[in-house]
Parts: sequence; structure tokens; C-alpha cells
Amino acid sequence: MVKSMGYFVFVVLLTLAPICFSHKPQVGYLFPQFYDHSCPQLQQIVKSIVAQAVARDRRMAASLLRLHFHDCFVKGCDASLLLDSGEGIVSEKESKPNKNSIRGFEVIDEIKAAVEKACPHTVSCADILTIVARDSSVIAGGPSWEVPLGRRDSRGASIQGSNNDIPAPNNTFNTILTKFKRQGLNLVDLVALSGAHTIGNARCVSFRQRLYNQNGNGQPDFTLDPAYASKLRNQCPRSGGDQNLFFLDYVSPFNFDNSYYKNILANNGLLNSDQILLTKNQESMQLVKQYAENMELFFDHFAKSMINMGNITPLTGPKGEIRQNCRRINSY
Ligand code: HEM
Ligand SMILES: *[C@@H]1O[C@H](CO)[C@@H](O)[C@H](O)[C@H]1NC(C)=O
Repeated sequence: MVKSMGYFVFVVLLTLAPICFSHKPQVGYLFPQFYDHSCPQLQQIVKSIVAQAVARDRRMAASLLRLHFHDCFVKGCDASLLLDSGEGIVSEKESKPNKNSIRGFEVIDEIKAAVEKACPHTVSCADILTIVARDSSVIAGGPSWEVPLGRRDSRGASIQGSNNDIPAPNNTFNTILTKFKRQGLNLVDLVALSGAHTIGNARCVSFRQRLYNQNGNGQPDFTLDPAYASKLRNQCPRSGGDQNLFFLDYVSPFNFDNSYYKNILANNGLLNSDQILLTKNQESMQLVKQYAENMELFFDHFAKSMINMGNITPLTGPKGEIRQNCRRINSY
């Protein structure tokens, strides 16, 4: 009996050995407790500065959430987006998706300064962007999740990557899905993460094509509700007013909820890239309907997909650096 127990334990150990001793996580070694000892105040500092920034400017939650997306889709989540031009670096801030649009860098600077004061040379700008994205969701009424940490910062930027890898609002469904798949993300990630457009603004230039000449035939997009289109045309004329701002979700522009998907079902999606989630693919259509019905399901998928996005090719271990100023690489 004792002997057979011993054999049993031996067999179990043999079976588990490959899992216990040689399993490598797919992505670097990110884990939520990464700074628990080296910077125990980190979470509190980030949360309180995000809260102050959103209290000053309600749009800021949206702007900060978007920073993480535009960082992760270009060379991975490495804070390449935060670098200013200079010393051989052409800033991603000048790219087509970012210019006159991306914002919130002063808030990241403020957080980085406070974190450096509490825990010098410890916390990466890339991790700050990731925590900030989660806190922005929470403060707008969206889901929360534990944020895997341990990313390091790049020593370069890629304006080409920023121009090519971030989806454009007039890309086709397949182009956008391909751009997500290239990052290791799938169709569920695409539909769930697009729900970030439940908060924040877009400029007239980002959707004008739909109002006047969707297919080069001088006709508006017939998948856009005519009454909504005519309201939009008032502030987004055929020419001029390029930078005029519109709510991505006019029903509840500051609340992170599922009204984005309800709007799409009512043909009131603002961007072409929003509306085509309903009209160009069966699977994504089903998800839009499910999220419009079931906010909990949307929140659950959004949180998981944000973690997936945060796992895009992080720099870990000896790679990259901990920048002292998020706008510049360290000088030695
Ligand atoms: C699926 C492909 C996507 C496309 C084509 C797209 C495109 C855009 C465009 C054109 C704007 C308005 C920019 C402007 O006119 O200034 C915008 C805003 C925004 N996007 Fe996306 N986006 C996509 C996915 C995402 C994802 C994955 C997130 C985050 C998880 C996100 C978060 C936001 C937020 C929060 C805003 C508002 C920002 C603000 O008010 O400052 N987007 N997006
Ligand atoms: C998409 O928009 C860009 C910039 O507004 C424009 O140059 C391009 O021609 C548009 N693409 C299509 C397929 O309409």
C-alpha cells in the first residue's frame, strides 16, 4: 500500500514536472505584484492623479485610455508613443492618427514626476500608461481589472509604425481585423476594445467622408441614420471645421457603458470603423448585439481584451530601460 502510494506520487510528479518547472508564460514575465515591494505607493499615486485630471477635464479619461492603445499597437507596449522628437527620434506624436488628436501627455508627466519622487528609477512609463488606462476605465464607470506589470521603456520610436499599424477610421473591416491579428488580437478583442468609443471625442475630419461622399458617388453613407447625419453636417461642413469635436457616444459621452453598441444598432455609430462592426461581418454583428443587450458581458470581455492588448510584445528583463522622463530616452 505504502509502496504503491509512493509510486503514485512519483507518477504524479513526473506528469506535473513539465508544467511546474519548464512552463514559460507566453508574454515576458508580466505580473500584477511586480512593484509591490519596490514601489508600494504606485497604484495610489496613479489613481489619485488620474482622478484629479478627470475632475479638471472630463474628456481626459478617454484621452488617457487611448494613449495605451496607440502605444501598444506600435512596437508593443513600450511607451514609444511618449517620446518627443530630437536626438535621432521622430516622435510618433506627429503621425497621421496622432497629430492634432492624441492628448494627455501632461498628465503622464505629472504622474511620472510623482512616482519618481516616491520610488526613483523604478517604474517604467509603459507600466504607468497601462495602470492609467485601467484607472480611466474605472473612473468613467467602466470595468476594473488587475494590471500585469513589469514592462520596460523603449529607446526608440516608430512614426512609420504609428502611421501603418494603428487602424484608420475609414479602413475596411478586413484591414482593421488584419491590423488587430498582426498584434495577436482576435475578432472578439476588436469588437470589445472598440467599445472604448463609449467615451471621448472625434474630429470632423475623422468621419466627414461618411456625411458627403462615402463611396466616391457623392452620396452619404446609407448605413448612417439620416437624421443623425444631418445634425452632424451642421457642425461638420463639406470643407472647413476639420477640428470640430463630436462625441463618439452622443447618448452618454462621459459614461463608460454599453450605449456605444446600442448606438451602432440604431445606425448612430459615429466612425465608419464603428458602424462596420454591425454591417460587414456576421461574428462581429453577433457580438455588437450581445454587448448592447448585456453590459456585464461587454465589461468582462473589455477587461480581458485590455489585458491582451497590454501584453503586446513588452520589453522585459534586461531589454529597454526605465526612463527618468517619459519624453526622452536616458542619456548615459
Ligand atoms: C478598432 C479600430 C479603431 C479605430 C479605427 C479608431 C479610431 C479613432 C478615431 C478616428 C478617433 C478620433 C480621433 C480624432 O478625430 O481626433 C478615436 C478616438 C478614440 N479612441 Fe479609437 N479607434 C480604434 C480603436 C480604439 C481602441 C482599441 C481604443 C482603446 C481601447 C480606442 C480608444 C479611443 C478613445 C478613448 C478615443 C477618444 C479620445 C479622446 O477623446 O481624446 N480606440 N479613435
Ligand atoms: C481615408 O481617409 C484618408 C484621409 O482622410 C484619405 O486620404 C483616403 O483616401 C481615405 N481612404 C479611402 C479608401 O477612402
